[in-house]
This record gives sequence, C-alpha cells and structure tokens, in this order.
Amino acid sequence: MEKPDMEVLDRRIKWALLMVSLLTLVFLAAAAVQENLIAEWRIVRGRYARILREKATDDAGREIARQFENRIMQNVIPALNITDRCITCHPGIDDPRMADQEQPYRTHPGDYLEKHPPEQYGCTICHQGQGRATVFADAKAADVHWDYPLLPKEFAQSSCAMCHAPDAIKEYAPLAARGYELFVEKGCYGCHKVAGVGGAMGLPLDTVGVKKKAAFPFAYIEGDHTIANWHIEHLMDPQKIVAGSTMKNYNFTYDEALALTNYILSLRGLDLPMNYIPKDRIEYEYHKAFRKALPGEELYKRYCYACHQDGLSSHYDPILKRYIPTVRNPAFTAIATDDFLKRNIEKGRPGRDMPAWEEQAGGLREDEILNIVAYLRGDTPLSPDYDERYRASGNPERGAFLYERNCAGCHGETGHGIQAPALANRVFQESATDAYIKATIERGRHGTTMTGFAQDSPSFAALTSAEIEDLVTFVKTLQ
Ligand code: HEC
Ligand code: HEC
Ligand code: HEC
Ligand code: HEC
Ligand code: HEC
Ligand code: HEC
Repeated sequence: MEKPDMEVLDRRIKWALLMVSLLTLVFLAAAAVQENLIAEWRIVRGRYARILREKATDDAGREIARQFENRIMQNVIPALNITDRCITCHPGIDDPRMADQEQPYRTHPGDYLEKHPPEQYGCTICHQGQGRATVFADAKAADVHWDYPLLPKEFAQSSCAMCHAPDAIKEYAPLAARGYELFVEKGCYGCHKVAGVGGAMGLPLDTVGVKKKAAFPFAYIEGDHTIANWHIEHLMDPQKIVAGSTMKNYNFTYDEALALTNYILSLRGLDLPMNYIPKDRIEYEYHKAFRKALPGEELYKRYCYACHQDGLSSHYDPILKRYIPTVRNPAFTAIATDDFLKRNIEKGRPGRDMPAWEEQAGGLREDEILNIVAYLRGDTPLSPDYDERYRASGNPERGAFLYERNCAGCHGETGHGIQAPALANRVFQESATDAYIKATIERGRHGTTMTGFAQDSPSFAALTSAEIEDLVTFVKTLQ
C-alpha cells in the first residue's frame, strides 16, 4: 500500500482552514456594518440627531443635541418584567418640540407619559409588542411569532382598563368604559363569568385579554388576522367565526364591537405589584367583593335578559335550539311560589342551558337571588284559589296515555322537552309541587303555546279534573 503524501495533505488542510477563517471574517465584518452603520435603529437615531441640531435654537437645545448618543436606549422595569427599547427609535416622545415631526420622532400624544413615566411603566404595558426588539417589524411583531403584537391604536384604551376601573375612566378611555357598559347592559354575564359571577354556557372571561393568538380560530376571519379584529368579527357574527357557536348574536355595529373589544382586551388578570394598581381600581375591587345587592331589575338585566328577554313572553331560540319560557308572565307567577322561583334560580335546569345561580355556581348571593325573585313576581301575588297543599293520587297508567296524546308533541315522549321545558328534569321534579303542575295544566300559560286543558281549545278537547289528576301523577314519575 502507498503511503499518503503527508506534505500535500498538510497543505490542503491549511488552505481549507484559511478559507474558512476568511469567510468567518467576512461574516463578522458584515454583521459589524449591519449593527454599527446600517442597523435600522442607528439610522433612525442618526436622523433624530439631525432634527435635534435643527431644533437647537437656544443653549438648552444645543446642550441636548450635544449630549445625544447614537446607542440603544432602554427602560428596564424588573417589577413588571419589562425591558423596552422602544425609546431607542422614539427618542422624541417626551420632547414637546417634536409635536410637528413624523413618526417615530413625534411627541407622545396626550399626557399619558406624565401620568405614567416610561422609566416606571415602559411602553409595552400600554402598547404591547416586543419590547426588546431593535427593528420596528419585530417590535410590532405582527408577522413574527409573538403572543401579543403591538396593539392597533383603536385598542390602546384596553390597556387603561386593565389597571383602571372600567367605570372610572369615562373621560380618559371612553371606548373601554362604553364597552364595559355594553357588557353589563347586553347581559353578557348571562353566559360568561367575570370574577366568579355569571352564567356557565360560555367560558369565564377573567383572562381572555391575555389569551394567545394561536388559541383563536382564524379560518373565517375576513379582515386583519389580529386578536383584536378576531373579537370584532366574532362579536358582529359569532356563528360565522365559530361554527355551531351558541353565543347570542346581537348584530352589533362596528362601533359597539370596537367598544366591547376594548373592554374584553382589558381582562388580563391584573397580576401587577400593588404600586401599579390605581386607587380607582382598588375601590372598584373592594366594592365588587363587598357589594351591596342591586335592585332585582338590574340583576335581571345583567344575568337573565340575554336569554329570557323581558320575561313576559316566551320564544323559541334558533341559536340555542331551545324554547325559552316566560318568567315574569302573570299566568306563571300567579301559581309559582317564591320558593319555587328561588329553587329554580339557585339550581338552574341542569342540561337545559338554564344555569345555576347560587353562590358556588353562578356567584349570586341569597339576598341578590331574593331581589330577583321579587322582581319576577312583580305585582302578581299567588292566585287566591291556588292550594299548595294539593296532592295528586290519580292513575299513572291513564296519565301516561293522556300524556302521549296531549303533551308529548311539545314536552317529548320521555319528558325531555322539544318545544317546551323538560319535565323529566331533576330540578323541575324537585321543585314543582303537584299543585303547581295541576294549575299549569288547568290554566295553561296565557301568551304561550301551553294551552289550558280545563276547557276546550282549538287543538285539544277539555280534560276532566280526574284526567288532570292522572296526568299530574304521571308527570311526577318522569325522571
Ligand atoms: C427600530 C426602530 C423602532 C423601534 C425599536 C420601535 N419603533 Fe415604533 N415606529 C418606528 C417607526 C419608523 C415608526 C413609523 C413608521 C410606521 O408607522 O411604519 C413607528 C411607529 C410606531 C407607532 C405608530 C404607528 C403604528 O404602526 O401603530 C407606534 C404606536 C409605535 N411605533 C410604538 C412602538 C413601541 C411600543 C415600540 C416598542 C415595543 C416601538 N414602537 C419600537 C420605529 C421603531
Ligand atoms: C399609559 C399608557 C401608555 C404608555 C405607558 C405609553 N403609551 Fe404610547 N400611546 C398611548 C395611547 C392611549 C396612545 C393613543 C393616543 C390616541 O391616539 O388617542 C398612544 C400613542 C402612541 C404613539 C402614536 C401612535 C399614532 O399612531 O399616532 C406612539 C408612537 C407611542 N404611543 C409610543 C409610545 C412609546 C415609545 C412609549 C414608551 C416610552 C409609550 N408610547 C408609552 C398610551 C401609552
Ligand atoms: C400598569 C397600570 C396602569 C395602566 C396600564 C394605566 N394606568 Fe393610569 N395610572 C396608574 C396608576 C398606578 C396611577 C397613579 C394614580 C392612582 O393611584 O390613582 C395612574 C394615574 C392615571 C391618571 C391620573 C389620575 C389622578 O387621579 O391623578 C390618569 C388620568 C390615568 N392614569 C389614565 C390612564 C389612561 C388613559 C391609561 C391608558 C392609556 C392608563 N391610565 C393606563 C396605573 C395605570
Ligand atoms: C347565550 C350565551 C352567551 C351570551 C349571552 C354571550 N356569550 Fe360569549 N360566548 C358564548 C359561547 C357558547 C362561546 C364559545 C363559542 C364562541 O366562541 O362563539 C362564547 C365566546 C365568547 C368569547 C370568546 C372567548 C374565548 O376565550 O375564545 C368572547 C370574548 C365572548 N364570548 C364575549 C361575549 C360578550 C362580550 C357578550 C355580550 C355582548 C357575550 N359573549 C354574550 C355564549 C354567550
Ligand atoms: C343561557 C340562557 C339562560 C339564562 C342566562 C337564564 N335562563 Fe332561565 N331558563 C333558560 C331555559 C332554556 C329555561 C327552560 C329550561 C328547559 O327547557 O327545560 C329556563 C327556565 C327558567 C325558569 C323556569 C321557568 C318555568 O316555566 O318553570 C326560571 C324561573 C328561570 N329560567 C329564571 C331565570 C333567571 C331569574 C335568570 C337570571 C338570574 C335566568 N333564568 C337566566 C335559559 C336561561
Ligand atoms: C303546544 C305545545 C304544548 C303542549 C301540547 C303542552 N305544553 Fe306544557 N308547556 C308548553 C310550553 C311552551 C311551556 C312553557 C310556557 C312558558 O313559556 O312559560 C309549558 C309548560 C309546562 C309546564 C311547566 C314547566 C316548567 O318548567 O315549569 C308543565 C308542568 C306543563 N307544561 C305540562 C304539560 C302537560 C301535562 C301537557 C299535556 C296535558 C302539556 N304541558 C302540553 C308547551 C306545551
């Protein structure tokens, strides 16, 4: 075997090494040029240095221009876990002389920075975006992988309501304040909990404002693929954005959706050191924790209206695919005792979209539930001829036969409810007395499809009182 020529090999390795070193040097040089001469932030600050010199018409101005350095500037705030380099490219935000400049040099609008000095708050606490970035595209983080890209300007107020009480900032952040008003007025609490109070059909919204972009389904979003725009389009038409959504469709206008989104995005869990939480917020949280019971009507609007509307008439809800019964109709309240109303509100109707409102479920206290009961009752006392002590002892087989003929079409063969409430429901069975069921069958519910069976109706012949007793006996066997 021939021995390899060691000298040739040695030369080749040396050459290869030299080439690699040269290449590395070229890359290093390129990086140095990129960072020191043509880095975006350097160019931005270079131009600002010129603007400073142009504006230097007095000694103070000349001193500022002389001291200006072209280097990275940052606000580091360990308490908030913030390192923001935004001021590197926005050096004029606290200089009132820059009000006439183009971005990124213009003076910051409003007095936000006087109230919240950048050394203490940074910028991303209000604007979001990627604080450490030194390239604007990365700071904006719209197209790079970043959970909370720069908030579009229309949504900046959501940050105010993150810290400030949403009902205390009407003057400074009117959009977020209006959003909170709409949230209460439109009965969003009927399906969503915030701070433990609300219905159960939708998710609690306490931290929806920090939900990451990747967790939203963007398939049917037509406009910008931003979290904020997801909320706008979802609020304007939930079923279009989330197939099969049972969220109520309010047909909101853009302006209403914009206000609501500013409130929704403010729900970020408020996990901040105490000295960053303003007094108005502390007061608001205190009043929420130790709240006085609101009048029944206001509670009803917040928690019940979204589904029951005014409660005087009933309707089939095509989105929930459920029949929503009346709750304030005198034909109902004349035979519903306060105890029946209270039990049904406390326990809901499990499996039937009627949420349970007692403290450990929907978060309402007993005094609040009693206010709602009084509101449902209104001016209608129990009917004088309504005898709560009545007990049915009819024939359940005959009752089953009559049920099949007269009732199953609406209430379902097994009482599971089709175009009417479910009678085979645990809470219904536990709370409805024989007297209540008898009176309902006899009198029906004026203004709903539940006709009275004590006399002939267009669809049904009158039932005798013995037949009605058989029916009551049978209805009580439905499980
Ligand atoms: C590398 C330089 C650079 C950095 C770093 C930078 N910006 Fe800017 N910013 C710009 C420039 C240039 C503009 C104006 C051009 C434009 O609007 O596209 C601008 C515009 C803006 C605007 C108004 C226009 C818009 O798109 O909303 C806001 C708000 C803003 N920046 C906030 C921030 C915040 C907050 C940070 C820190 C997270 C930041 N910027 C970091 C260069 C920068
Ligand atoms: C307390 C909250 C808050 C802080 C902190 C804050 N900003 Fe703003 N900023 C706002 C609001 C609100 C607006 C929008 C004002 C308006 O147009 O009504 C705004 C507007 C701006 C704009 C102009 C946007 C435009 O399109 O005209 C820029 C640029 C900007 N901020 C940069 C910064 C930078 C850089 C910092 C950090 C030094 C910062 N902001 C800190 C609340 C804040
Ligand atoms: C990180 C929390 C935080 C954010 C975000 C925030 N603020 Fe503040 N703000 C405070 C604190 C803390 C104070 C100090 C005064 C206090 O305790 O009430 C304050 C003070 C103020 C004041 C002065 C109130 C007074 O009584 O002197 C105004 C006005 C104000 N903020 C408006 C806003 C607006 C508008 C925004 C949104 C652009 C905003 N704030 C965002 C925490 C915040
Ligand atoms: C009838 C019940 C119902 C009412 C009333 C209702 N929602 Fe919803 N909401 C839902 C359901 C169910 C979902 C989940 C399906 C979906 O995303 O559309 C949902 C989803 C949401 C989401 C997305 C949450 C997430 O984590 O993805 C937001 C935000 C929201 N609702 C806000 C509101 C607001 C604001 C109102 C009042 C204007 C409201 N909802 C009223 C049932 C309701
Ligand atoms: C998410 C929609 C929804 C919300 C919010 C809601 N309900 Fe209901 N409620 C229903 C449905 C649906 C039924 C009928 C259940 C069935 O079909 O079996 C019902 C039934 C009832 C009943 C029984 C009626 C009867 O004829 O026996 C009462 C009482 C009632 N709700 C009161 C309330 C009150 C008070 C609130 C607010 C604190 C409220 N509901 C909130 C959907 C809702
Ligand atoms: C045409 C449809 C229809 C028929 C037929 C019908 N119901 Fe009803 N029933 C309803 C509706 C709708 C309601 C809820 C009324 C409301 O909105 O308050 C109701 C309510 C009731 C309630 C009270 C439920 C509750 O949750 O408190 C009982 C009990 C009841 N019906 C029994 C019967 C019996 C027994 C029959 C047969 C003799 C019958 N219904 C026939 C539609 C019907």
